[in-house]
Amino acid sequence: MKDHFGRHIEYLRLSVTDRCNLRCRYCMPDEGVAAVGHGDVLSYEELLRIAAIAVRLGVCKIRITGGEPLVRRGIVDFVRELASLPGRPEITLTTNGLLLAPMAADLKAAGLSRVNVSLDSLRPERFAEITRRPGLEKVLAALEAAEKAGLVPLKINMVPIGGVNADEIVDFARLTLERPWEVRFIEFMPVSGGLGYPPESRFPAAEIENELARLGPLEPLSRKGPAGPARLYRYPGGRGRIGVIPAVSHHFCSECNRLRVTADGRLRPCLFSEEELDIKSLLRAGADDASLSALLLEAVGVKPERHQIGETDFVPGQRRMQTIGG
Ligand code: GTP
Ligand code: 5AD
Ligand code: SF4
Repeated sequence: MKDHFGRHIEYLRLSVTDRCNLRCRYCMPDEGVAAVGHGDVLSYEELLRIAAIAVRLGVCKIRITGGEPLVRRGIVDFVRELASLPGRPEITLTTNGLLLAPMAADLKAAGLSRVNVSLDSLRPERFAEITRRPGLEKVLAALEAAEKAGLVPLKINMVPIGGVNADEIVDFARLTLERPWEVRFIEFMPVSGGLGYPPESRFPAAEIENELARLGPLEPLSRKGPAGPARLYRYPGGRGRIGVIPAVSHHFCSECNRLRVTADGRLRPCLFSEEELDIKSLLRAGADDASLSALLLEAVGVKPERHQIGETDFVPGQRRMQTIGG
């Protein structure tokens, strides 16, 4: 699938639930989160159908996201079915890690290739402050379990927020000296209104890189494989890698290779654009594969050239991150 700007779309992100067992302040409010009703969430059969068609159209990598994907029952079997689709796409998953430790080996056996774990503080009280729930120990155990299960290369996503946890950038970076992990620092994105931190608390990529330099000189690494949003580095002699995702300050839209499916069954061509196509209604009206393929191609066709976030006239969207899946 190729869009109007010459980008090859080969990466599908499936949000399997909007529910989450954390309440990260930059993602959602503590209460009053209108949950998508059970009947409105796509069934695994529906998700598999979309995935199968997308793979036929050239998708080679599928990421399962949420909310928190591991809270949805039956996720291991879903991974197994996705992994055995003809075309054998790579299956990956993004999780907050709370439930991962006891599931890591089963997920690997089912065909999951690797995981990205979100973690914003290595200090228990601060972890609980940011996520509004305890659980740091479980996440740390999950990192060990994922590595042991072979869900590698293991990536950790950290969102530094000015005045909140940006002072831990060096602590996170230090993990890569001893561990073969990729620690990625993501610029905070004011994607929707009413989040727990104001847009000004974004800690820009340039400042992240300044912090990182305090631990030692960084060696830039060139990327291989399909383009990803992270700039990669390592510390000489370190076992792991550092990534910086300048989500707002240097958009990487020109390399965007992804298409998203939201928890409530919409194709979302761009993380930051409100434009969506209703694939759920089509599925539930008994559409054949040709019509579903056509809708996927239409979604690719309306991918905007770039996002407008960070510009003066950008209006944050209605949807919160947990129904889009990042
Ligand atoms: P890899 O396959 O390991 O490269 O994963 P990934 O980076 O695609 O997935 P992950 O779910 O770990 O996403 C990391 C973060 O990158 C997301 O939470 C977003 O903050 C950011 N990100 C992902 N996709 C996009 C995108 O299309 N645009 C922008 N601006 N940021 C994105
Ligand atoms: N800005 C930046 N990253 C975010 N994530 C969720 N909301 C935001 C936001 N507003 C990240 C999570 C997770 C990934 C899927 O998205 O930390 O790692
Ligand atoms: Fe849950 Fe992820 Fe949102 Fe945190 S960022 S509340 S872990 S969906």
